[in-house]
Amino acid sequence: RKPITTAKLQKMKQDRVPISMMTAYDYPSAMLAEQAGIDMILVGDSLGNVVLGYDSTIPVTLNDMIYHSKAVTRAVKTTFVVTDLPFMTYHGSIDETLKNAARLMQEGHSKAVKMEGGTEIVPAVKALVQAGIPVMGHIGLTPQSIHQIGGYKIQGKTPAAAQKLMDDAKALEEAGVFAIVLELVTDQLAAHVTEQLSIPTIGIGAGASCDGQVLVFHDLLGYGGELHPKRFVKQYASIGELIRSGIRQYVDEVKGRRFPAQEHTFRMEEEFAASLYG
Ligand code: KIV
Ligand code: NA
Repeated sequence: RKPITTAKLQKMKQDRVPISMMTAYDYPSAMLAEQAGIDMILVGDSLGNVVLGYDSTIPVTLNDMIYHSKAVTRAVKTTFVVTDLPFMTYHGSIDETLKNAARLMQEGHSKAVKMEGGTEIVPAVKALVQAGIPVMGHIGLTPQSIHQIGGYKIQGKTPAAAQKLMDDAKALEEAGVFAIVLELVTDQLAAHVTEQLSIPTIGIGAGASCDGQVLVFHDLLGYGGELHPKRFVKQYASIGELIRSGIRQYVDEVKGRRFPAQEHTFRMEEEFAASLYG
């Protein structure tokens, strides 16, 4: 497969070829995702929740994002890797924002950055785009503002909120983003935004009309995380169960002295052993 590029993603929208995206945070998972044919990997700041065990994405640092991006980008050859700019790394001066995004590209080797927000982040988006950094937008439910939003709920439900979301999408497109994540918005609003924009929309909890879909690795594969998956998640495997039962067998076999067996064990010649140890 040829490397996925922003131009290719644009063409996929035009040709109505759905774009597949998922998060990954380390080397083996990114390698498996590419082998399975994923178009885009997001090194999401959701790693704060699913990998680091925080209860939001707010404690996640730029260094955390770089560390995980390094592992992911080492694993892939053709997959387009986008990394989240974490909480408060694009709200200071333009200079700081440029420096932070540059670190994700130069140290993390990501191809693009993702930023949450609408019209209010347009100056920052423009500065990055002018510097040659592809930017992905993210509107609707924006987890970095969870305490301001006041909970994990569907966005754009009133006419005014829907109009605001549409305006944000347009402003981001004009600022030069190559794609926009729509998180937790109604099917109809996502369809309308997707139709009004010429760049791809990537939905999560945003219905089937988006140009692409994104899911979190741990949700998609049933790896740790929640007992009751969110409504918009489809769990395609239960790797948490597999891991637990594998570990349980290992524990049982160690306790029962069934592991290691002969085939896992090294021995010297019997005569030599006898001469040494009787
Ligand atoms: O961090 C993340 O995983 C995300 C996706 C949910 C879009 O931002
Ligand atoms: Na994120």
